[in-house]
Amino acid sequence: MHGKDTADMWIRNAWYVAAFSNDLQHELLARTFMGEAVVMFRDTAGRAIAMADKCPHRGVPLSLGKLVDGMVRCTYHGIRINSEGQCKHIPCQALIPAQARVATYPVADKHGFTWIWMGDAAQADAALIPDVHWMDDAAWTACGGYHHVGADYQLMNDNLLDLSHESFLHDRTIGNEAVAEAPVKTVVNAGEVRVHRDIFNCEPPPFYIKATGFTDRINRWHTTIFTPPSFNLIENGSYPANASKDHALERRVIHLTTPETATSCHYFWGVARAYQRDDAALTEFIRQQSSNTFDEDKAMLEAQQRSLGGTGGSAFPVSLCTDIGPIQARKLVQKRVAQEQLAQASVAVVQTAGLAHAAS
Ligand SMILES: [Fe+2]
Repeated sequence: MHGKDTADMWIRNAWYVAAFSNDLQHELLARTFMGEAVVMFRDTAGRAIAMADKCPHRGVPLSLGKLVDGMVRCTYHGIRINSEGQCKHIPCQALIPAQARVATYPVADKHGFTWIWMGDAAQADAALIPDVHWMDDAAWTACGGYHHVGADYQLMNDNLLDLSHESFLHDRTIGNEAVAEAPVKTVVNAGEVRVHRDIFNCEPPPFYIKATGFTDRINRWHTTIFTPPSFNLIENGSYPANASKDHALERRVIHLTTPETATSCHYFWGVARAYQRDDAALTEFIRQQSSNTFDEDKAMLEAQQRSLGGTGGSAFPVSLCTDIGPIQARKLVQKRVAQEQLAQASVAVVQTAGLAHAAS
């Protein structure tokens, strides 16, 4: 099903966001993850369900059908599939063939998202879901959104780990020249990459003025914390340049991407703050401005993907000091992919040995 190029860059044994939990209801929702067409819905008990979006009878997308008596009814010849992926009804036929079933995927709701596991189901431990508690923590006020992006998800990781682009791409909202002029400090810990930047005594960019009320010069910082495959948490904050950091107003910006194809991804984001939490107008301002900002990223990444062509992006001719974070993040992804492929190869060897033993 997958070309070598695409299979090589995806970590399968991980939780990815499939949808905002609120967007998954008792109706069919079709999305493609890592090249696999998936249909999702909530069953009558409210549980999130995900299964291959392909009828085992004649191969049409199940998502063209509808839910009938809690089961997916294919809209071509009417067979019904239950939440376990098992065919339970065939019009005018009592015998249900054993092959009349579709693969299901582990799914879980947590912190406002519905997560899906596209790899080995036996390894789908809910404890491995990334901690994005800011999205539903009573001490924070959060807003969020979704962008479909026509670019490889690793280009989004690159983007979020090199925020010098705020100066040029986002000068209408969160950036000004001071960002790119400030040096970054990159630290690679076990399984994560951190890129930190302090920007002292700068003009507040337009978004910062409205989102904080700080109209004079500020000190600000941002730290991107990346964990594979595609969770980028940005901690940021600002305070008046003539005040102490105790006066800082902080936000957490959550970025979660899920590969769709080799050249497209689903981008889920959220912005949480721990100040002026009851100000609904401020929440809406932050949501709208963030959405506008990420529209700019989407347009740039899609232009970049068109320029690179194919699945490119792993071998740029020039890298700068600000690329240490993105490069280290790609190494972490490559390491995990290699580990998965080695484990799969080991299983295949054991199975082959088992077959040889059985045949002897
Ligand atoms: Fe950006």
